[in-house]
Parts: sequence; structure tokens; C-alpha cells
Amino acid sequence: SGLMAGCGARSEQGSENGTKAGNEKIVIKFSHVVAENTPKGQAAIMFEELAEKYTEGRVDVQVFPNSQLYNDDEVLAAVQQNNVQMAAPATSKVSKLFPQWTIFDFPFAFPDTDAVQTAMESEEIGGKLFSMLKEQQLLGLAMWDNGFKQMTLDEHPLYMPEDFKGQKFRVMSSRVLEAQFKALGANPVPMPFSEVYSALEQGVIDGQENTLSNIYSKKFHEVQKYMTISNHGYLGYAVITNSAFWEGLPTDVREGLEKALDETTRWVRENAQRLNQENLEKIKADGTLVEIHELTQEEKEAWMKATDVVYEQFKEEVGEDLINAVMALRK
Ligand code: LMR
Repeated sequence: SGLMAGCGARSEQGSENGTKAGNEKIVIKFSHVVAENTPKGQAAIMFEELAEKYTEGRVDVQVFPNSQLYNDDEVLAAVQQNNVQMAAPATSKVSKLFPQWTIFDFPFAFPDTDAVQTAMESEEIGGKLFSMLKEQQLLGLAMWDNGFKQMTLDEHPLYMPEDFKGQKFRVMSSRVLEAQFKALGANPVPMPFSEVYSALEQGVIDGQENTLSNIYSKKFHEVQKYMTISNHGYLGYAVITNSAFWEGLPTDVREGLEKALDETTRWVRENAQRLNQENLEKIKADGTLVEIHELTQEEKEAWMKATDVVYEQFKEEVGEDLINAVMALRK
């Protein structure tokens, strides 16, 4: 039942005071925007199962996928207000509250997911980013991978920067992502994930960037003709909760949830890349795209050169220290 949502920790305290029967479950609503057959969709289900197991049924995790409850523009506020207790927005979307979180959006900033992991584990990057969440009633619990983004377009193949010229691309709400497309001569259109398919279908936008699992599970490849495997940017998630809710949980329950999260995070780390790869095979097997192009080294260098200006543009907003820390990892 959804009746106890948000009151779980309080009802527990109530039972200690003898004012309640004490057998209500603590409800954790977990809202996200993607399909279930994706790294985040699978991870949320796994967390639900493990959390209920490790708390011996004292917690009822309710996962709401596919923007059923909130779309990505609303979910941060919903967690802040404890209307949902957990969410895992793309780091890009956390930048709405904290511009520093857009560090993961910089074009070609990370050569692979290991580099992202190293960044998240470092005190000067991950430590700094997680600790600022507390200023806004949020607590960062973990980082979940999706993977690297690829480009799709309806008009023609994307080989060189010139091919972006004048095309409208959907972006997540992130100023760095907007700047990336502007640097390529394209027109960025910020839009919630739930609206992308119909915007592509109706030609409101010409193209988009996303991971293979997001492209496949939302059928973007059915309303696009060309895809370039570019791995130009990273997409991962900040698993967040409401800090007062989390701190109000009974200690043993919280420990059970942490154990469930650790295990889930490890699973995502080991399987996200495989899931994305499998989705590439499914996209190929569907045969709806006219061409799937792998970015060549020469093209990659041209894209990097064209988008390099973004680093300079956001020095102030994101912070030179943070940018330098990420650049240092690249070497
Ligand atoms: C998007 O909006 O494209 C992604 O953030 C969706 C997601 O959560 O993976």
C-alpha cells in the first residue's frame, strides 16, 4: 500500500512510544524515468528485492519506472519534500540544483567507466559532489552506471562536426550539454526523457544522444535513421534519498538498506556495459536504422576539437578545480 509513504520512519518511532501497533512497514517509493530492461531499471528491482530481504520484510520498496510518478524535472523536488524517498536521476539533472554536477557531461571527459569510478571515489570530485547535496535535504547514497552516450539523427549520418549544423537535438536539462551541441553548430532542445520518443516521431527534434539501453528500450531507433557509436559523453546516476528520512530510520533497517545498495551497486558496475552491448545487438537485429557508424579516430579528434571550447566556457560555473581534477584523470 502507498498509505505509509514518507511516514515510515516516524511510524517506527511511534511504535516505540507505544502509540502504534508497530507492524506497519516502512515504505520507500523509488521513482525513475527509464524502462525496466535497462541498467537502472534492473538495479531498482534488485534493490527492492534485497532491501526487503535484508530488513526481513520491515521495508516495502515500491519502484515506479517509466516516469509513472514523476518525470525528471520533478523528481528532485519530490525527494526533497519526501513525497518519494529514493530516486536515481542522471547526474546531468542534479546540475539543476548544483551546477558542479554537470562535470560528468563534459564531452570526451572520461575514456571509460573505470575513469568515472575513480572520479566518484576521489575526495576532490565525488567527495565534494556528494557532500554538497546535504545543503538541499538530499543524501547521496551511491553512483550507478549506465554507460556512454551515442548520437542518433534522422536526416543524415553524423561523421564530422559539420554534420550537426542546424540540426535540433534533445538534451537533458544541463547547460554543458546545451553548450556541447552549440559548439557543434546544432540547436539543443532541453526536454524530459518521457517526451523524447514523440518529439522524434513528430519531428519536433531531429536527433538525440543517449545510451544504447535507453535508445533500444524506448524505441528511439525506430524513429531515427542514423546512429553514430561515438561514446562522446557519460551517463550515470546519483542514487539519492531524503536526508531526514534516511537519518530517521532505525539503525538496523538503515544497515540492511545499505547492504542491499552495496550489492546492487556492485551488480550495476559489473553488468551495465554488458546490457548496453546487448542492446546494440538488438538494435542491429531490428534493422530499423539505415546505418550504424563507428566514429573513426580522425572523426573523434575533430569532434573533440570542436567541443573543447565547452571546458573554457564552464570554468567559472563548474569550477576550475573540479575540471582540472577530471582532466588530470584523462592523462
Ligand atoms: C535521459 O533523460 O535521457 C536519461 O537521463 C534517462 C535516464 O534516466 O537514463
